[in-house]
Amino acid sequence: MTSVLFVCLGNICRSPLAEGVFRDAVHKAGLTDHIHIDSAGTGAWHAGNPPDPRSIEVAAKYGIDISRQRARQVIAEDFNRFDLILAMDTENLETLYSRSQLDHPGLRLFLNDPAKNVPDPYYGGEDGFEQVYQLIDQGSHALLTTITKHM
Ligand code: 4NP
Repeated sequence: MTSVLFVCLGNICRSPLAEGVFRDAVHKAGLTDHIHIDSAGTGAWHAGNPPDPRSIEVAAKYGIDISRQRARQVIAEDFNRFDLILAMDTENLETLYSRSQLDHPGLRLFLNDPAKNVPDPYYGGEDGFEQVYQLIDQGSHALLTTITKHM
């Protein structure tokens, strides 16, 4: 079993979308029983809330339902429970570094080849969410390839 945690700031825009898109890719690959997937935010403002309607909408456009996911904040236990902790941008990666007690070998940027941020779409328009979806879709397939190579 490999476990993956996607992390952004609010856990309502980027990381819930990554959770849903990656879960869909894993399901299609027949690996649901082998990969545990979750998402969380470094911030707690939106804890308990569903994803941003714009994330729900862009996911639905590609046949993925993320509407039942609920936001939560990263907790100390996450550093023990997850093999991979994938930050959506360098700012959240730095926050995670500062909160991890020990070096975590699986803590890195989600898009790491080449290293790139998934930009925060919260204060932008609809097309920001499409751009975020495309980055996450590409990153999810790259991640699945990486994980299956090591299985
Ligand atoms: P996320 O986007 O980190 O992709 O979930 C944001 C959501 C909320 C806020 C910022 C970013 N906010 O400032 O409330």
